[in-house]
Amino acid sequence: MFRIQPLVSVLLCCFTFWFHISFGYLITCSGIVPMRYRNDKVSITDFGAVGDGKTLNTKAFREAIYRIQHLRRRGGTLLYVPPGVYLTESFNLTSHMTLYLARGAVIKATQDTWTWPLVAPLPSYGRGRERPGGRYMSFIHGDGLRDVVITGENGTIDGQGGIWWNMWRQGNLQFTRPNLVEFMNSRGIIISNVIFKNSPFWNIHPVYCSNVVIRYVTILAPTDSPNTDGIDPDSSSNVCIEDSFISTGDDLVAVKSGWDEYGIAYGRPSSHITIRRVTGSSPFAGIAVGSETSGGVEHVLAENIVIYNSGIGVNIKTNIGRGGFIKNITVSQVFMENVRTGIKIAGDTGDHPDNRFNPNALPYVKGVTLKNIWGVKVQKAGSIQGLKNAPFTNICLSKINLHGMTGPRSPPWKCSDVSGAAIEVSPSPCAQLSSPQQSGSCANHF
Ligand SMILES: *[C@@H]1O[C@H](CO)[C@@H](O)[C@H](O)[C@H]1NC(C)=O
Ligand SMILES: *[C@@H]1O[C@H](CO)[C@@H](O)[C@H](O)[C@H]1NC(C)=O
Repeated sequence: MFRIQPLVSVLLCCFTFWFHISFGYLITCSGIVPMRYRNDKVSITDFGAVGDGKTLNTKAFREAIYRIQHLRRRGGTLLYVPPGVYLTESFNLTSHMTLYLARGAVIKATQDTWTWPLVAPLPSYGRGRERPGGRYMSFIHGDGLRDVVITGENGTIDGQGGIWWNMWRQGNLQFTRPNLVEFMNSRGIIISNVIFKNSPFWNIHPVYCSNVVIRYVTILAPTDSPNTDGIDPDSSSNVCIEDSFISTGDDLVAVKSGWDEYGIAYGRPSSHITIRRVTGSSPFAGIAVGSETSGGVEHVLAENIVIYNSGIGVNIKTNIGRGGFIKNITVSQVFMENVRTGIKIAGDTGDHPDNRFNPNALPYVKGVTLKNIWGVKVQKAGSIQGLKNAPFTNICLSKINLHGMTGPRSPPWKCSDVSGAAIEVSPSPCAQLSSPQQSGSCANHF
């Protein structure tokens, strides 16, 4: 175990070096949302906020944002949060604003969960994700906004989620736990240079949004914190996530688009999602699509990803009743170390909102390319298990090398109801992917 450590460092170093030279220059998210300079600036302390970690600053945040919304300065307004710990209840952002957290600034969620406001369930989920009915509003919330930036000098947004995780563990949650940051029906959003900590539920949730950039963020929650997904682009398009570190208790990035009959009826896909230079560790998946994909997911590109001490490296998951589609997914340049399962594509994952889901609504999975994936200490290479009446097609595995725990090889792949091709895959892939006439599956999907 100790002997392998230097080897891994050398491999990681060479791998990083290799992808830098193979691209030559760094591709970035810039261009998706123009960066705004705000002439008008206000400080949260102008509204009476006290950063002592004890004073409840809800009124200050709500008044500051009310002022930004109603004074409507040309070019928008920057709301400055100076160093200090600002305890507050949840609040709504408004359009044309920047929430700027100075170095050492912490915006901390109240522990008084009984004061937490409720909002309507998302139409594409039909109910709260974990409890029927409404759901607690996200700690920082935005609905119907445009041109919003959350940035600064790596200040912290702290959800103090422990109290919520315990309610979940004890089974006495009345409604679905709050996300840390959620934007709904919004466009032109930038989240950068902020640390997100201890979210009650999912960390960053853009839903029904377009043109969203998330970069240089750090997202942290304990490994045993339930459902603390890092970033979940949901029924959203043109979302770009890059240069971030995520270590949480659930999937690091999971692309979604609604749940069973509600997601099918709402019919809003996630498309053009880019994830690059993301590093982290999760007891579940590093890069995930699903399992809620009822509005469809297409054109996802994840590249230059490092996943360590995790459950699954790359996980595409759906279920009967989901309907929708998963197509044109490309994951490339992945390094993984100490992962239980390298790659998993499955048609039997996740629960249902209620028993009104349609068992004949089968997901359509076509065109998944996984290439240039290198793993060490991978217990199981992977499995690709489609559905009998909806086999997964055009699955391409190319240049994949997953080393086992002890020797050079992990146990073999498991496949069913799948077709596609495999080129230079070790351990050798299952027969379903090995037929030479399928090699067209390895044409680039993105
Ligand atoms: C915040 O937004 C939610 C959802 O859009 C809304 O229900 C709530 O009334 C808003 N709260 C405030 C204080 O404006
Ligand atoms: C903030 O964190 C990011 C990502 O870790 C890092 O690249 C950046 O240099 C940091 N910025 C400051 C001002 O410390």
